[in-house]
Amino acid sequence: MTGNDVRREMVETDVRVGPNAMNALWMPFTPNRAAKANPMHLASADGAYYFAPDGTRKFDGVSGLWCCNAGHNRDEIKSALKAQIDVLDFAPNFLFGHPSAFVLAERLALLAPGDLDHVFFTNSGSEATDTALKIALAYQVAAGQPRRTMLVGRERAFHGVGFGGISVGGMVANRATFPNLLPRVAHLRHTHQPERQRFVIGEPEHGVELADDLTRLVELHGAETIAAVIVEPMAGSTGILPPPKGYLQRLRELCDRYGILLIFDEVITAFGRVGHAFAAERYGVIPDMICFAKGVSSGAAPLGGVMIRRPIYEAFMHGPQHLIELFHGYTYSGHPLAMAAGLAAQDIYRDDGLFEKARALEPVFARLIMELRDCPHVVDIRCVGLAGAIELAGRAGEPTMRAREAFLRAFHEANLVVRYTGDTLVFAPTLISTEAQLTEMFGQIARILKTLD
Ligand SMILES: Cc1ncc(COP(=O)(O)O)c(C=O)c1O
Repeated sequence: MTGNDVRREMVETDVRVGPNAMNALWMPFTPNRAAKANPMHLASADGAYYFAPDGTRKFDGVSGLWCCNAGHNRDEIKSALKAQIDVLDFAPNFLFGHPSAFVLAERLALLAPGDLDHVFFTNSGSEATDTALKIALAYQVAAGQPRRTMLVGRERAFHGVGFGGISVGGMVANRATFPNLLPRVAHLRHTHQPERQRFVIGEPEHGVELADDLTRLVELHGAETIAAVIVEPMAGSTGILPPPKGYLQRLRELCDRYGILLIFDEVITAFGRVGHAFAAERYGVIPDMICFAKGVSSGAAPLGGVMIRRPIYEAFMHGPQHLIELFHGYTYSGHPLAMAAGLAAQDIYRDDGLFEKARALEPVFARLIMELRDCPHVVDIRCVGLAGAIELAGRAGEPTMRAREAFLRAFHEANLVVRYTGDTLVFAPTLISTEAQLTEMFGQIARILKTLD
């Protein structure tokens, strides 16, 4: 037997999820050695629950990874995927195209506010943000303003992991070990002001003036050099920072004043998370582009994209008709299976009224999470829509360990799938969650906090 034969036999005969079968995979955004020493596999899922390989039921408190908004194991999505694979496995959208990509684009264009009526498909949120940044730069060239090359992001932002995304992003750890970031990038200040915003439900009253930070950058660099500003309407990955009241409106006004494109990264906020199809709708602000992913297919197939306002699309539609207008795209942009999952998910959202359900559940979620404000270690709680964060005081000299321990105990003792970022616990249940399920989840979290060192 060769070494490879032995390994193959080990993998095949091992319990499918045993430690020997875990070596080859480099798990993303994971402490690999700790995760492999203490596996937390999720083997199947249904509705608002996962199931561990031994059959233990685990409540899904984060919609998978902010994506399974319609809940798991939806028959409508499964049937659509099966029907699609029987008809067409793949067809290139470069030059050719296939029906379901056009249909989903049309559906999303109808759903999006204002004249955000063109769609560029990607496979992920990271590709969506990089695509939006590239479109912004190319648009400024097409619009006769080639000096507008600067991209503005914001501190504490997460825009995925491509070089564009980490350059405009502001999650320090995501940038620290990748020194070759994009040049000509500036950052707005983040919007978190704990001294004025602690334990606020929804959008804080204070902080609109933080949008004026864009003026500082304009004064420093010159408006004529700035192509676009990208922000998450609600900063999710950093631990839920809802926008201060009026902040996004002010940003829109300033972008209009200075001729700067405004991009909303709605990878988390779109498709119901804040009670609407898009956060743009909740806040009554129409950006020039919206990045989406995750909930668009309810997580059932990799799918992302960018919604683009009509004048931006039209600025590219000049010159000889046989020439490509935008030298950008992915082999799997508009993949038939992703389109099928996307269309079925959109049907569910509409037919089950899930955005409205999320809106109705929002005050319940807010009440339940805020009930934990007097638990030990809690220094702040923030929430908006069905997204919430409980920030804990970190242990001296051991950053993230307190939240990590709560996260591990939530999984092993309380059968809860939640997340943590730094010393903050994060919750984003599916839009089909019930009040009873949320009550149980936050009750268990309170119990854990009370017995946590
Ligand atoms: C706001 C935001 N943008 C982009 C991304 C990246 O998406 P993906 O992991 O699909 O590349 C995420 C992922 O969480 C996100 O929250």
